[in-house]
Amino acid sequence: MELGGILVVYVLIFLLTLLTYVFSRRDKREPLKSAKLPPGSMGWPYIGETLQLFSQDPSVFFATKQKKYGEIFKTHILGCPCAMLASPEAARFVLVTQAHLFKPTYPKSKERLIGPSALFFHQGDYHMRLRKLVQGSLSLDAIRNLVADIEAITATALDTWAGGRVINTFHEMKKISFEVGILSIFGHLEARYTDELKKNYSILDKGYNSFPTNIPGTAYKKALLARKRLSTILGAIICERKEKRLLQKDLLGSLLNSKDEKGEILTDEQIADNIIGVLFAAQDTTASVMTWILKYIHDDPKLLEAVKAEQNAIRESNDGGSQPLTWNQTRNMPITCKVVLESLRMASIISFTYREAVADVEYKGYLIPKGWKVLPLFRNIHHSPEFFVDPQKFDPTRYEVAPKPYTLMPFGSGVHACPGNELAKLEMLIMTHHLVTKFRWEVVGSQSGIQYGPFPVPVNGLPARFWIESSS
Ligand code: HEM
Ligand SMILES: *[C@@H]1O[C@H](CO)[C@@H](O)[C@H](O)[C@H]1NC(C)=O
Ligand SMILES: *[C@@H]1O[C@H](CO)[C@@H](O)[C@H](O)[C@H]1NC(C)=O
Repeated sequence: MELGGILVVYVLIFLLTLLTYVFSRRDKREPLKSAKLPPGSMGWPYIGETLQLFSQDPSVFFATKQKKYGEIFKTHILGCPCAMLASPEAARFVLVTQAHLFKPTYPKSKERLIGPSALFFHQGDYHMRLRKLVQGSLSLDAIRNLVADIEAITATALDTWAGGRVINTFHEMKKISFEVGILSIFGHLEARYTDELKKNYSILDKGYNSFPTNIPGTAYKKALLARKRLSTILGAIICERKEKRLLQKDLLGSLLNSKDEKGEILTDEQIADNIIGVLFAAQDTTASVMTWILKYIHDDPKLLEAVKAEQNAIRESNDGGSQPLTWNQTRNMPITCKVVLESLRMASIISFTYREAVADVEYKGYLIPKGWKVLPLFRNIHHSPEFFVDPQKFDPTRYEVAPKPYTLMPFGSGVHACPGNELAKLEMLIMTHHLVTKFRWEVVGSQSGIQYGPFPVPVNGLPARFWIESSS
């Protein structure tokens, strides 16, 4: 007892000394505290400015603030103090040069649906390890072998659109981007597995934007249950692969073969979380940009003619489409390629991203306190007249001159930049090739309006009718 008491006293003294030391050190690096917070208004406590943000087009909300306060300003969203960054320089600071001071941050409810081991929730060694595997399986060298399969997926999907009935374009594009996601992860997956994954994933998908609650019957709860079934299916696929001992170069193959410096392999759960993570990152993003491409070229007949001419020339050199597209051909579509870039800029489907400061950070004399959310505002940068002349105009010719560094970041930048960017672009080029060489289409109903789900998509998924164009 006696001894125990003395020990407690010693421990207390030790802790006190430690605390004093820590705090006196904090005081010494106090200069940061003298830096001032960024300008801006925080709105009401807790609710902050959330209402204003969600009751209008978010880019208008940010643009108004930016005009008033400049490249960095503070606000309060969903109970979190935030620093918004609206310049290429500030975005580079957070995402690239000082990336170690800002960690990714996502709502817990989303992490539960996707799986906590998915790479985009992480930072440091684990993140780098997974990132290398994902990047490798989505590199140019890997995806050049996927051209024929992506073309087959796209052609099959587009053929079902013909006949003039009304199609929800976004919905149909999601089918394509899902199948391409599956292809890049598993290579050729048995149809019964693809089918089970597809059905269960679509239930999970409905949970992403629903209110997170455990009440049975809600979309979120159903999504959690579907996520469990997805783990079971993935477990079966993994088990089969391990038995066959095939050395495949697709993502699943690389995940299965990975060993860290201690020789440890990834667990089935880590593999599953990353597979679901890639499907999540790949599907709605690519599908919404493809929907925008279809709208932009529909709305500009001259542009459509130019894209058609480029793609028809390729089709003719492939014996009127009877030969498959080659990798080389997909690398030589200068007009279509600029249309893809301009669609990425105009639509800016990832309007901004989130990070959290892991320490007090100073940027240009402003303090970003530890724990604050930090949001690089891609859309504002993409739509600023300072970097893009007449920014609201869809003008692919603007890329005849390369954009200034960090002014065009549809795929983000730095350690978390999108590893799927080349695959996404390839998919968009192939889709456009088939669309303009084989079809004519009409957009149905309301021509303007944007829906956020959460990515901006034309209202109602852009209902449209498609007809096979009689070859001329
Ligand atoms: C047009 C389509 C796409 C767009 C606009 C897009 C955009 C982005 C952006 C902006 C980020 C960075 C987010 C951040 O820094 O917080 C990102 C990350 C990521 N994307 Fe994409 N993406 C697209 C398609 C794809 C595809 C097709 C795949 C995979 C097949 C993919 C896989 C990923 C992954 C795994 C990450 C996380 C990387 C990391 O945290 O290290 N994306 N994407
Ligand atoms: C989901 O996955 C299970 C296997 O875990 C499968 O039996 C079922 O058919 C799939 N589809 C749906 C809609 O749940
Ligand atoms: C691919 O295109 C380049 C020119 O862009 C050409 O030099 C090369 O021979 C082509 N390769 C194949 C396999 O067609």
